[in-house]
Amino acid sequence: MPTITAPQTYRVKSFGCQMNVYDGERMAELLAEQGIAPAPEGEDADLVVLNTCHIREKAAEKVYSDIGRLRRADGSSPLIAVAGCVAQAEGSEIMRRAPAVKMVVGPQAYHRLPEMIREAGEGRRVTDTDMPAQTKFDALPRRRKSGPSAFLTVQEGCDKFCTYCVVPYTRGAEVSRPHAALVEEAKRLVDAGAREITLLGQNVNAWTGENAKGHSVGLEGLIRDLAAIPDLARIRYTTSHPNDMTQGLIDAHGDTPKLMPFLHLPVQAGSDRVLKAMNRSHTVDSYLAILERFRAARPDIALSGDFIVGFPGETDAEFEETLNVVDAARYAQCFSFKYSPRPGTPAATMDGQVPAEVMSERLTRLQAALMRDSLAFNARAVGKTCEVLVERKGKLPGQWVGKSPWLQSVHFSADAEIGQIVSVEITSSALTSLGAVPLAMLAA
Ligand code: SAH
Ligand code: SF4
Ligand code: F3S
Repeated sequence: MPTITAPQTYRVKSFGCQMNVYDGERMAELLAEQGIAPAPEGEDADLVVLNTCHIREKAAEKVYSDIGRLRRADGSSPLIAVAGCVAQAEGSEIMRRAPAVKMVVGPQAYHRLPEMIREAGEGRRVTDTDMPAQTKFDALPRRRKSGPSAFLTVQEGCDKFCTYCVVPYTRGAEVSRPHAALVEEAKRLVDAGAREITLLGQNVNAWTGENAKGHSVGLEGLIRDLAAIPDLARIRYTTSHPNDMTQGLIDAHGDTPKLMPFLHLPVQAGSDRVLKAMNRSHTVDSYLAILERFRAARPDIALSGDFIVGFPGETDAEFEETLNVVDAARYAQCFSFKYSPRPGTPAATMDGQVPAEVMSERLTRLQAALMRDSLAFNARAVGKTCEVLVERKGKLPGQWVGKSPWLQSVHFSADAEIGQIVSVEITSSALTSLGAVPLAMLAA
């Protein structure tokens, strides 16, 4: 068996949802702990981890084309590991189709990467897509680095089995991480520079745990305990499921100032018949009623959602009902997708698959409506004052970009630094960003 020299540098490329971004950061920390350094920008890495997403067709195809393009300047191939949801769903197919891949590692097994790299170094091709009962989090290094806005996975997996979706198969059953471990990780992120933490979960509002007093609490209990961390300024959470929503979490938006006025609550479709076929187990009315309860608790809350157009059997009239939901909800921003049949999911073999042109036409109409509402939402911010958490430099000299409480990107020029919270007046708006002037400058 050939022996490959141990990798000196790595690159982790993450695709898909924020939970994959979080996993990518944890894998990077794990590799750094092994003495492997991040490859400098623009230079080849000895080890490349493709942290993949399986949610829609193009996402999986992209993995194979990425593998093909990973040749290094000298013509050699780096050590390639495929991680994430495509690894979990299609591990053996990847090994068959892509000989350059030496490691396949699922989302619940990536703490084993160092061991797998050693085995690959001995010339073996290794796969680990187990979903062990023991949590990978216990085996990962402590958090030492963070930008101003950090992700923290609090809940993993999904028991909902929406008929179009691969996540229950790629991420396994719903599991909540323990309260104490999360408070500890949040404190470390704050010590490392985080001012904002976004709590992540495929069904984040299904999180439950036992607090320091031994009481069983829901997500709002965790949020309240995290709000007690002095240097943590902002808390967000995503993605919620309508069926796991509690009045406790809604109320927290009214009485926890550090909890930002933003809710991402996917509805997927506007017809009760389609929702039933999707196995969503909420109706249009029950969904809209939840939005109203949030608006009652926090009138300025920014709402967001996900939509799928062209689910099998969706008629023109049923699609019109989706547009009605948009009108009723008045979203700040949304994600919308064409239905993509996923292998092994019930919807993939349902009758009435919708032709591609019909899906495109529906998506265009839906996105026009969503765009209209995003523009209107952003335009309503003009003239208001708010706080912006500075995340990065802007394109122009002296310009900074940060987030408003409502998750809008705000551009402004001032003497500022990353991680600072700056009070501004919003002066202009566009589809995906706002312009602002710092209040200190207006007063001067
Ligand atoms: N757990 C979240 C999000 C899961 S995936 C939830 O339940 O809402 C993110 C989004 O991808 C979903 O909300 C859905 O809108 C979209 N999606 C999932 N499977 C899809 C498929 N097969 N085709 C098109 N869009 C899909
Ligand atoms: Fe997928 Fe539905 Fe679970 Fe969301 S709730 S991850 S859409 S199965
Ligand atoms: Fe994609 Fe897996 Fe996330 S399929 S959306 S990376 S849970």
